[in-house]
Amino acid sequence: MQNPFKPTAGATPPALVGRAGLLDEFEYGLRQGSGAPGLLTIITGSRGIGKTVMLTTAENVARNHGWAVISRTANPGFLARIGDDMLGLIDELGDGPPTRRVTAFSAAGFGLTTQLPPERAVDWRRTGDTLLRILDTKGTGLLITVDEIHAVDRTEISQLAADVQHFIRDGLPIGLIFAGLPAAVSDLLNEGVATFLRRADRINLHEAAINEVTASYRELFSGGGVSIPDELLNQAAEATAGYPFLIQLVGYYLWLEADKAGWTVNNDAVTKAIAAAQRRNVQVVVESALSDLSDKDRDFLAAMSMQDGPSTAAQIGQMIRSKPNVVSKYRNRLIAAGLIETAGYGKFDFAIPGLRQYLRS
Ligand SMILES: Nc1ncnc2c1ncn2[C@@H]1O[C@H](COP(=O)(O)OP(=O)(O)OP(=O)(O)O)[C@@H](O)[C@H]1O
Ligand SMILES: [Mg+2]
Repeated sequence: MQNPFKPTAGATPPALVGRAGLLDEFEYGLRQGSGAPGLLTIITGSRGIGKTVMLTTAENVARNHGWAVISRTANPGFLARIGDDMLGLIDELGDGPPTRRVTAFSAAGFGLTTQLPPERAVDWRRTGDTLLRILDTKGTGLLITVDEIHAVDRTEISQLAADVQHFIRDGLPIGLIFAGLPAAVSDLLNEGVATFLRRADRINLHEAAINEVTASYRELFSGGGVSIPDELLNQAAEATAGYPFLIQLVGYYLWLEADKAGWTVNNDAVTKAIAAAQRRNVQVVVESALSDLSDKDRDFLAAMSMQDGPSTAAQIGQMIRSKPNVVSKYRNRLIAAGLIETAGYGKFDFAIPGLRQYLRS
């Protein structure tokens, strides 16, 4: 029997745990068409919390409503690639002459300056306009999703936002969903590059509740004909802390252990699966997150790991013998990198499970 769990970045899991209702507003917007609030949405959350999977889910919802979808990651030149995608869709929809040859946007031409040159920007808007009018006559629309907007050049985001705002003003059926790390998204909105995005719906993703993880495991395993006692299911669910990547890892190794033991699971198998999942989480998430940090960043995190819960700037300043402005500089950098997050007034804590234990060991 095939292992249903998907412990890989961006891979759609066998069941979406803890996300019920989050896309209702968006789905309602698809039925309302142009200008509905849910059609403009920003998804935020720490690393591995399921942002990319949420985007994929929203894309599928849009397709089920007959909408066209363009899905891009925000790396340099992504706006031009969205332009190319739009031309492709116009050709596919078959109205009018092939456009690709005349106005292809390919990013290659303007290399490192990621902005569309002015004449291309006009073409971009015209292309979008043409596509949206075709879709409008068909009673559908276009959804654009942009992942990892924390990694992008602000000029491209603000240009995209300006164009989308323009389409909305013209009553055209467009939806836009961004996903990124929370701190970076806040910066983006506060800097005023795209004021119109402040009105977007915010979906901030969190860990799932443990009982939902248990219920999901019960369903997936019994669906595969494997019955596991409740207390073992619960033990496995607890070990995930509701963190989506760990939900997949623990599930994956539990399935593997069940397979080895002729589709039965005992205490020992659960212990083994949890250990394997935690090892893998450290390798994949923790070590890669730490790999591009400076020594000072590491000292900061090491000091945090000495606390059993959230830290304050004063505590860390004392431990690493640094002034408040230095502490706040490192704190902000680590927040932007998605490694730590604010945890109540003046406090911050690790944003990745297993990081504290790893740093202690
Ligand atoms: N709601 C969910 N329930 C169960 N598993 C999930 C859920 N959402 C995501 N996952 C799983 O968690 C892992 C991480 O998901 P995803 O890649 O979407 O996270 P992300 O927030 O985009 O991470 P990153 O910040 O690294 O881009 C994947 O293995 C995915 O299958
Ligand atoms: Mg992602």
